[in-house]
Amino acid sequence: MVSNANHDHGMIESHPLEGTTYPPSAEFAASANINDPAVYWKAAEDPEAYWATQAKELHWHKPFTKTLDWSNPPFAKWFYDGEINVAYNCVDRHVEAGHGDRVAIHWEGEPGDTRKVTYEELLFEVKRAAVLLESLGVTAGDRVAIYMPMIPEAIVAMLAVVRLGAAHSVVFGGFSAESLRARIEDADAKLVITADGGYRKGKVSPLKPLVDEALALETGQKHNVKNVLVVKRGDNPVDMVADRDLWWHEEIAQVEAQHEAKGFNAENPLFILYTSGTTGKPKGILHTSGGYLTQAAYTHKNIFDLKPEVDVYWCTADIGWITGHSYLVYGPLANGATQVVYEGTPDTPDWGRWWSIIEKYGVTIFYTAPTAIRSFMKIGRQEVQKYDLSTIRVLGSVGEPINPEAWNWYHDVIGGGTAPIVDTWWQTETGAIMISPLPGLTSLKPGSAQVPIPGVTIDVVDDTGNHVGHGNGGLLVIQKPWPSMVRNIWGDPERFKETYWSQFGDQYFAGDGARLDDDGDIWLLGRVDDVMNVSGHRLSTAEIESALVGHTSVAESAVVGASDETTGQAVVAFVILKANQTELTEENAEAELKAHVAKHIGAIARPRQVFIVHELPKTRSGKIMRRLLRDAAEGRDIGDTTTLADTMVMQTISQRVRDERDAKK
Ligand code: WTA
Repeated sequence: MVSNANHDHGMIESHPLEGTTYPPSAEFAASANINDPAVYWKAAEDPEAYWATQAKELHWHKPFTKTLDWSNPPFAKWFYDGEINVAYNCVDRHVEAGHGDRVAIHWEGEPGDTRKVTYEELLFEVKRAAVLLESLGVTAGDRVAIYMPMIPEAIVAMLAVVRLGAAHSVVFGGFSAESLRARIEDADAKLVITADGGYRKGKVSPLKPLVDEALALETGQKHNVKNVLVVKRGDNPVDMVADRDLWWHEEIAQVEAQHEAKGFNAENPLFILYTSGTTGKPKGILHTSGGYLTQAAYTHKNIFDLKPEVDVYWCTADIGWITGHSYLVYGPLANGATQVVYEGTPDTPDWGRWWSIIEKYGVTIFYTAPTAIRSFMKIGRQEVQKYDLSTIRVLGSVGEPINPEAWNWYHDVIGGGTAPIVDTWWQTETGAIMISPLPGLTSLKPGSAQVPIPGVTIDVVDDTGNHVGHGNGGLLVIQKPWPSMVRNIWGDPERFKETYWSQFGDQYFAGDGARLDDDGDIWLLGRVDDVMNVSGHRLSTAEIESALVGHTSVAESAVVGASDETTGQAVVAFVILKANQTELTEENAEAELKAHVAKHIGAIARPRQVFIVHELPKTRSGKIMRRLLRDAAEGRDIGDTTTLADTMVMQTISQRVRDERDAKK
């Protein structure tokens, strides 16, 4: 079943799945935000009208009268004659409604320091930051790069940028200087907001030196960064460049918290977030304002059954990923939620940290990734059972299929056997959740994300675009435009059309394999392209291969995602060294090449293993057979190699992998 992930999609098999299902308790259903099953057919009858109703939950500076413009597919416009201010919706309106005293953020620093930020305080900070950014020349239509740890200022910075009608590009703090520079250039950012550092695993992990390095790189292209704003967090020494670098705390102290939020067109760019594709160059996924916020807020409220007056919500994602954007910043804040934001890693100072935070703040809704759950399963439930998690009433999962074993553990050990788990499927490109149970309605099936949310139309089709029917596997497509859909790839509309819209006309191709079971529930089977999913993060084989061949001693490389017990998939590289190189030896090559990838892309891309080989398996036309390499990396018997130009090569490679495994034993 789920272990079918990443088989060539033509080969996806179907397995009948039987097992326990978990209907909502009568008590949960009675008070759930959505508990009338009619919602599905009502939304399906007129999805646009359904979404227009949801959009009206937001504050519009100028109400929209139009809903969807799909006259020029694949370029959608939603609510496009309306004007909205996203930051106003996330902050001001809650204060104006009398909720200024409500805690917006319970922030927990990794070393144990804490901050409590109410909506009124958040408004004060966002206004000041907006005035400061304006004084640095940021205006509507600009881009600002944000490279920050998980501290309240990161959220303040995002909200201040969008308050001005500018767009942010948040770059995950684990990315290298080179990756940061590529994103700064591509988006043409004029300002970078960063911090001296942030805490990770008990140490300060510096960020500002990487910004300096990024801006100084000789890439053959100019960047237009005029200023770097630096938040003081780590207290580690940093070099401040005269006339360019400014301390956030010094500058912000000089401005008044007086700032009026203006309305901007619903299709005004909100943010760009880069994600890996099948080529070496990351794609700048563009999201705009009104539609994105509508679906982020709607899904956050209804899928997690949020009651903003009483719930304490916690999403463990980093703001550098889409989950952090939609379910740590925009969704929860648009809904006036009280949430926990934690800076550090789950194992600091020990594996009890997350559970101690849940106990401390009385977290009621918890959203995390299967890879984290599997790590905790390995540590054992005794680490969890030291804490009182009885406040938990809804659990969420995102990033990859949650295997039934992890589902059951999550349900029993974290959810006390009663909290429903919403397994949410979506992507950077979809902006918000697309497939998920509704906790007050759906009988849960461990391992399946189950059904499209109301207002969304999804199908599983074969290679020619025909519905596969219950009991069969195929490719996941989204059949109708949805409010929070990707609007474009920044600066590359051709790639946008080619990547998502060339396979099935005006249906969106998600790049995931899926299966419909006999009830029509959807089981996600993993990517069908050369995108890996490591700990819920997307990595491209091509990008890592190009980093490897960028090493002076490497002639050729092939990268595969091999299944891994904890991280879902792991990066495994096969490398051919140049014949005349002398720098790398059998002994040092693996460590050196791992470090090389981490330096050029970021630590998340560091291969688990690097095998030095003399030959790669290629077809007679020269195409690398990654499937065979994956079989070898996963320790499986190598299947049919008759199409290979050199049939011996796989035997040699499999032997290398086996030797290494035996050496480790
Ligand atoms: C995978 C993360 C199965 C999928 C929000 C998708 C999932 C990719 C699930 C997007 C899930 C995400 N079940 N697979 N619940 N959630 N995926 O852009 O392969 O980082 O295409 O967005 O993660 O990853 P991204």
